[in-house]
Amino acid sequence: MAKKKIGFASGIGFILAAAGSAVGLGNLWSFPYKTAKNGGAAFVFVYIACVLLIGFVTMLSEIHLGKRAHANPITSYKKINKNVGWCGLVAIAIPFFITCYYAVLGGYTVKYTLNSFSGNAGILGTFSVNVGEVTLYTGIFLLLAIIVIMSGVKEGIEKMSKILMPALFVILLAIVAYSLCLGEGVKEGLSFYLNPDFKSLGIQGVLSAMGQAFFSLSLGMGIMITYGSYTGKETNIVRSTAMICLFDTLVAFLAGLAIFPAVAHFDPTMLESSKGVALIFAILPEVFDSMGVLGSIVSFLFFAMVTIAAITSVMSLIEVVTQFFIQKFHAPRKRSALVAAALCFAVSVPIGISLGKVGILEESGLNLFGLDWLTFFDEVTNTVLMPVCALFSCLAIGWFIGPKNAIKEMEEHSDKKKINSVLAAVYSVMVKFITPALILIVEVFGVKSEIDGGNAPVVIAAYGLIAVCVILYFIFFRNAETGTNNDEIAVDGGRTLESFNEV
Ligand code: PHE
Repeated sequence: MAKKKIGFASGIGFILAAAGSAVGLGNLWSFPYKTAKNGGAAFVFVYIACVLLIGFVTMLSEIHLGKRAHANPITSYKKINKNVGWCGLVAIAIPFFITCYYAVLGGYTVKYTLNSFSGNAGILGTFSVNVGEVTLYTGIFLLLAIIVIMSGVKEGIEKMSKILMPALFVILLAIVAYSLCLGEGVKEGLSFYLNPDFKSLGIQGVLSAMGQAFFSLSLGMGIMITYGSYTGKETNIVRSTAMICLFDTLVAFLAGLAIFPAVAHFDPTMLESSKGVALIFAILPEVFDSMGVLGSIVSFLFFAMVTIAAITSVMSLIEVVTQFFIQKFHAPRKRSALVAAALCFAVSVPIGISLGKVGILEESGLNLFGLDWLTFFDEVTNTVLMPVCALFSCLAIGWFIGPKNAIKEMEEHSDKKKINSVLAAVYSVMVKFITPALILIVEVFGVKSEIDGGNAPVVIAAYGLIAVCVILYFIFFRNAETGTNNDEIAVDGGRTLESFNEV
């Protein structure tokens, strides 16, 4: 029988795949406008602190949770304690809901890429309400992602990430170089983006930076557990985590350098409105429009880059659900990926309709408690659920497994044995006390802002979902097999877990 490899073949493959998950719309879209809005360099400074204090620690913990169990998030938590397996179910539910709205935005990026040569200026109003087109592009986007996932972790996700991530970086560098060489307006653009202003940062800005760090690093859900579960001894997870965090932050920072000098040069009147969500689908197309002939090429490259970023992110989201289907139901990978994507697609259709009518046109229509579906799902997952789930991973390492044991395991599971003792000591304190405390602050303020903003249903839906996961877990999963990576090998044939570990 042909040998099948389950898992990443190389350390760099894992880093690029995880970086592919992390680098997404959050980097190329939200980071630049949030920085400009919340005090420029002051925001960047706080953001970097969040990456170090919360992001790095949480990511390392999540990757380790997956790596030590070689299994999906439910089994990974179950291996710590049978009664906390439900945390893993929450960690699988979140990516499902995020995929549903992320796919709609991914559909927009595909449309804008293909339409670059006809011009995207002003199309948002007509495109977003064209239900057929929005649904079609959402479908195309999902299809592109699952074709990759169906080929497997090594042959699909890893191979594609190795091609797409360098491509993304080269395109980004080319656009940054182009932008910075424009001459007039460059200074104004840079100062608009980065001029430090601690007054406009405020507590709101700090919270926004914390939330942004979570989302951008793909933390607080099963992704890093799932990807971590596919790593073997060749992967040094401490170094990999550092590289993923660094790359993700670098791309986000560079995205602002690519965008604002060009806006200031070609259409300075647009600067003020580029501080908001309208940035990439409404403002930038106008800027590309005023670039003349070169505009369509820059637009094509820019949106192709955004599409690449979004596809590698959505791949990681769907993979979490796919892995669970494979391991729990012993279904073949192709069928699992198709079912996962089909379910997400079904939910993404009303989200797409609602985004056009309620979110962009602000007419009444398909809404959930006064919010368009996308905003509702985004706030349920991003604001309320992701910090809770990140808290689970830190508590699992900090209080259940214990930092000392976790570090020992990390050393045993890696060829590069010793972890620097200072780093180990800092990590131990962080994962046990400081990071959970900071995450708790994010959670409390997030919930408070939802309630103050009149969005109590968002909070109820989020905690309701956790309650449902707990109940389902104790009824269906606690005393049943929930599978490991070995199950995929059993279904598809291939090498054993032991031989996998040795690679
Ligand atoms: N990290 C991705 C981004 O920055 C988004 C994402 C969030 C992807 C959560 C997967 C999971 O856009």
